[in-house]
Amino acid sequence: MVVKRGEVILAPMAGYTHSAFRRLARQLGADRTYTELISAPGIIHRGIPKKYAYFTPLERPIHIQLFGRNPYEISRAAVKVAQELKPDAIDINFGCSVPKVLKTGAAGKLLENPPVIKEIVKMTVEALKPYRIPVTAKIRLGLHEDNLEKIAEALIEGGVSAITLHPRLGAQGYAGRADWKRIADLKRISPVPVIGSGDVKNWRDIDRMFEETECDAVMVGRAALSNPWIFTEYREKRDIEIPLKWRLETILLLLEWMFEYYPSREKACFEIRSLLVQLLKGFSQSREIKSYLMTVKGCEEFVNRLRELIERFTTESAKSSL
Ligand SMILES: Cc1cc2nc3c(=O)[nH]c(=O)nc-3n(C[C@H](O)[C@H](O)[C@H](O)COP(=O)(O)O)c2cc1C
Repeated sequence: MVVKRGEVILAPMAGYTHSAFRRLARQLGADRTYTELISAPGIIHRGIPKKYAYFTPLERPIHIQLFGRNPYEISRAAVKVAQELKPDAIDINFGCSVPKVLKTGAAGKLLENPPVIKEIVKMTVEALKPYRIPVTAKIRLGLHEDNLEKIAEALIEGGVSAITLHPRLGAQGYAGRADWKRIADLKRISPVPVIGSGDVKNWRDIDRMFEETECDAVMVGRAALSNPWIFTEYREKRDIEIPLKWRLETILLLLEWMFEYYPSREKACFEIRSLLVQLLKGFSQSREIKSYLMTVKGCEEFVNRLRELIERFTTESAKSSL
């Protein structure tokens, strides 16, 4: 069984869930991680992109997520990934519905074409057999209309080992609510594990999704970006307040990990800004801190200011505990 019952998983999120954040999530209690979507034709023509695909053993079990539109291309890219990286699974994205991707006929566009979904999964499962690497899939309900049962049938006939469902239409983006009832519907018809995704906002919602849908595993996306401690909260069944100082220390830790695989320290310091905004959400001082950290001339100044802030908040919390 690829995914065990009761697992809580960090969702793939492009631009955020690279190696450093996945490592953090695993250390805080996530059971499994995924890379963000990586272009299958890109892998074939230009090789595996380190920025997206780099991972350490600490992030395992890890699924490398691919997208494309052509069964042959996706299966070839999967074999290359299997040979070079030996991930725990290959996930195929059939959900992403941003215009740039839809235009190419890949990912979310395929929700309208279950026979191609089946062909992609079948060829990839076959191609990965010698490597004993399972294939999973991540889907939405459909692109413009709910087509879940047909999509599920195609995936199952293709030989998929687990299905993640984010129960919105592709055309919806993130509007409206994720329809958890459809996760329950999928669970009733699926012989393979079902992972529920969508609108888990706090650790109590994880329990609620398990109860309401009987899904095998729950995936946490946006909520984990500002609160990666959600995985610990769920395990310990309690709210945990994370002070600003810890959050700043976490940003520094993430940055140090990012230096390992970003092409330069400058690039890492630039890219961490999106995670920084997330991790400082909801604090009265965050605005001031963000502008202090974002008006630096270079990476070394960024790191120095971050250290200085950590020092300042250490002294302040020591004072307030006197
Ligand atoms: C910024 C962002 C990037 C995302 N990138 C991916 C991706 O690369 N692959 C994927 O399958 N889903 C991606 N998703 C969808 C999430 O994995 C998840 O299914 C969705 O956000 C719903 O869960 P949530 O309400 O817990 O965030 C992305 C979502 C966000 C917000």
